[in-house]
Amino acid sequence: MSGHERSRHASSRPEPGQPVTRNTDANHELSIRVRDLNLWYGQSQALKNVNIDIYQKNVTALIGPSGCGKSTFLRCLNRMNDLIPNVRVEGLVEMDGRDVNAPKMDEVALRRRVGMVFQKPNPFPKSIYDNVVYAPRMHDLVSRKAEQDELVEKALRDAGLWEEVKDKLQEPGTSLSGGQQQRLCIARAIAVQPDVILMDEPTSALDPISTATIEDLMDKLKQQFTIITVTHNMQQAARVADYTAFFHLGEIIEYNDTKTMFANPAVKKTEDYITGRYG
Ligand SMILES: Nc1ncnc2c1ncn2[C@@H]1O[C@H](COP(=O)(O)OP(=O)(O)OP(=O)(O)O)[C@@H](O)[C@H]1O
Ligand SMILES: [Mg+2]
Repeated sequence: MSGHERSRHASSRPEPGQPVTRNTDANHELSIRVRDLNLWYGQSQALKNVNIDIYQKNVTALIGPSGCGKSTFLRCLNRMNDLIPNVRVEGLVEMDGRDVNAPKMDEVALRRRVGMVFQKPNPFPKSIYDNVVYAPRMHDLVSRKAEQDELVEKALRDAGLWEEVKDKLQEPGTSLSGGQQQRLCIARAIAVQPDVILMDEPTSALDPISTATIEDLMDKLKQQFTIITVTHNMQQAARVADYTAFFHLGEIIEYNDTKTMFANPAVKKTEDYITGRYG
């Protein structure tokens, strides 16, 4: 590492004592860097001095009691909060070194790079095929029919849904079961080859078998994508996440690799939460 790189590296670390500092696995490339992020809805502050480094091609789980700011934080990563009136954001969100909130940042391009999967599966009222190909067509990633067919098959295979739907691609996405619909939404998200996939409680509306399927899928997808997922299920966080951040009242209380955090939480509040003593 050159002297310049070292100083830049060092200066990118927040002051000791801030939760982000512990998670510095040198083998992982940085995907998202957040510094001193504050967010207000009108007068009410929902995120307070959030600092975190999120690493590429890992699963990072966000946990914490209802209303602590997990969804708000996720929406800062692809500027979905812009769509909500009276939101004020301060601080830095960098993705691959580029300031997400810079005026010249193209929001459409940003949302292509940062896909999102919601709690309730929400396929478009279109065929299974068109659900997957809609965004790639919009972004001019495919034109010829053969290319589109190939992309649809690949995305559905990667989402673990191909075998179940290959003979009914023209049926409505909404005709699938809840778990299948969620995998369709994942196929739709990965069809544009994003860098990052945000998942906001992706399994909380699903049965245990569909949940296990999605958890397995996350494990496979992290080879290609950076995944940030919100969950209220501590076992799920422990199973799927390489890193976990514990949010409380808009702040990150603790952030670490999941094994360490669950085996040996540094902060009492984290321990109380993950052992179910509150929240
Ligand atoms: N659109 C909005 N307008 C005003 N306040 C909001 C809005 N969305 C969220 N908030 C407030 O911001 C705070 C954080 O909410 P957020 O939805 O981010 O929490 P969360 O951690 O995702 O909760 P949950 O686990 O229940 O989904 C809450 O106090 C909430 O009431
Ligand atoms: Mg939420």
